[in-house]
Amino acid sequence: MTLRNLLLATVVTLVPAMATSAFAASMTVGFSQIGSESGWRAAETSVSKSEAQKRNITLKIADAQQKQENQIKAIRSFVAQGVDAIFLAPVVATGWDAVLGEAKDAKIPVILLDRDIETANKSLYLTAVTSDSVHEGAVAGEWLAKNVGDKPCNVVELQGTVGASVATNRKKGFDDVVAKHANIKVIRSQTGDFTRAKGKEVMESFLKAENGGKNICALYAHNDDMAVGAIQAIKEAGLKPGKDILVVSIDAVPDMFKAFMAGESNATVELTPNMAGPAFDALIAFKDKGTVPPKWIQTESRLYTPADDPQKVYDSKKDLGY
Ligand code: AHR
Repeated sequence: MTLRNLLLATVVTLVPAMATSAFAASMTVGFSQIGSESGWRAAETSVSKSEAQKRNITLKIADAQQKQENQIKAIRSFVAQGVDAIFLAPVVATGWDAVLGEAKDAKIPVILLDRDIETANKSLYLTAVTSDSVHEGAVAGEWLAKNVGDKPCNVVELQGTVGASVATNRKKGFDDVVAKHANIKVIRSQTGDFTRAKGKEVMESFLKAENGGKNICALYAHNDDMAVGAIQAIKEAGLKPGKDILVVSIDAVPDMFKAFMAGESNATVELTPNMAGPAFDALIAFKDKGTVPPKWIQTESRLYTPADDPQKVYDSKKDLGY
């Protein structure tokens, strides 16, 4: 390639990138975030801020403290402010049609982050950036089935927030797998609301009800924070988490890798905290070029076990805001 052609090619490839970033720099996005119930949630908030900064986008975050009514207020306030787009991490799946209709009437695109909503009107949002949470539950179930083999196994389950899409789906994915294995039974299942404190409290009650934990073979927790709380409860009951009671959960937060290193947990399914990056890219392409994104932008899920160099994974995650 001649120097002239090389320069031309460079200009051609740089122009769209510059146009995109200049365009993004003029954007303000309102993000109705659920709260700070878990390490994963804290990382999602922190990564969202840095992904906005990378693109020079102004990001306004409203913390709903776990309440749908606060999220509805925040969305109305973003509409009144005339933001360019709204990101919504919906605490529960139902009850969004009216307020999202208001955003639609104001021609403000809404992008769902990490959780889904139930609606007959899919035009209320542009796209949803989420993992396949049924699959996450299935991966956890398959790990357990593989590891217990033919042995009888009583499982206790810590569910996420009642009514949250991810709680419903993670339960379904796990239950579907367990239904194929007659030796595995979910004997107790209760919400721990995705928090460490609630996870510990509910696990204590499971242990008490199940002969001090002697009847329990495994814990399935819909997130790592509840698992970490439960691990503490198991230790306080005089049992060894990860050995006497197997532990499988979801998120892959740094503390779970510490638990792997201590031999106190067995498996976790990763949920990326970077939901905002793909959402910003879809939004920029939509606003700038009219490119309509697919209705679902799926993020990856992968299984980690103590065989996956936990120290290395811990080091790679520890500064991400968990
Ligand atoms: O919606 C994602 C879930 O919400 C995460 O798995 C959990 O930790 C968080 O609270």
